Amino acid sequence: MAEQKATNITWHGGDVEKKDREQLLNQKGVVIWYTGLSGSGKSTLARAVETRLFENGHLCYVLDGDNIRYGLNKNLGFSPDDRAENIRRIGEVAKLFSHAGVITMTAFISPYREDRNNARKLLNDGEFIEVFVKVPLDVAEQRDPKGLYKKARAGEIPQFTGISAPYEEPENPELTIDTSQYNLVQSVQKVMDFLKEKQII
Ligand code: ADX
Repeated sequence: MAEQKATNITWHGGDVEKKDREQLLNQKGVVIWYTGLSGSGKSTLARAVETRLFENGHLCYVLDGDNIRYGLNKNLGFSPDDRAENIRRIGEVAKLFSHAGVITMTAFISPYREDRNNARKLLNDGEFIEVFVKVPLDVAEQRDPKGLYKKARAGEIPQFTGISAPYEEPENPELTIDTSQYNLVQSVQKVMDFLKEKQII
């Protein structure tokens, strides 16, 4: 856990609460946390769900691993500590977005169970929806959309998840979607069905 360095600070709330914004937007502000290997399809699925939600009149936003590492988290690498800090910051940002009433989706490998569970603890029950985007390693490696598995196998990328760094599968995810078995349309539908069933939309 990150050290609390600032002292003499006070938390301020306003008159407008999360539930008011949710009422305005006609949705619940939740975090849909996609986790899985590189090449599992997290970003693709998150983007497709975003499009579906948007077309249905819902406000949503995707925080995407590679993009966030260009900006907010540009000072972090891929050591276990840096990944923990990456996920801690994203958990906090996702919490803020969800308080804004937005259906917030995160697409990070987030390979460590403890880091994901810490992100879950920032939210109330039912507000953190962990989606395990499951795919056998060999399928992710065959897809290799960015050519990174090839480089990792050649020893050019240290600590590469699945090759030379661990991926800890979720134990109790709200949803598991095997993208080697379901196509994108079917996968999107599974997320949409869950959101409707839980009356998030
Ligand atoms: S996480 O482990 O901290 O959650 P994150 O999702 O932000 O990772 O970033 C993963 C992306 O960074 C991958 O999709 C890949 O494009 C790139 N990447 C570069 N080096 C590595 C590495 N050593 N392990 C995994 N992904 C890497």
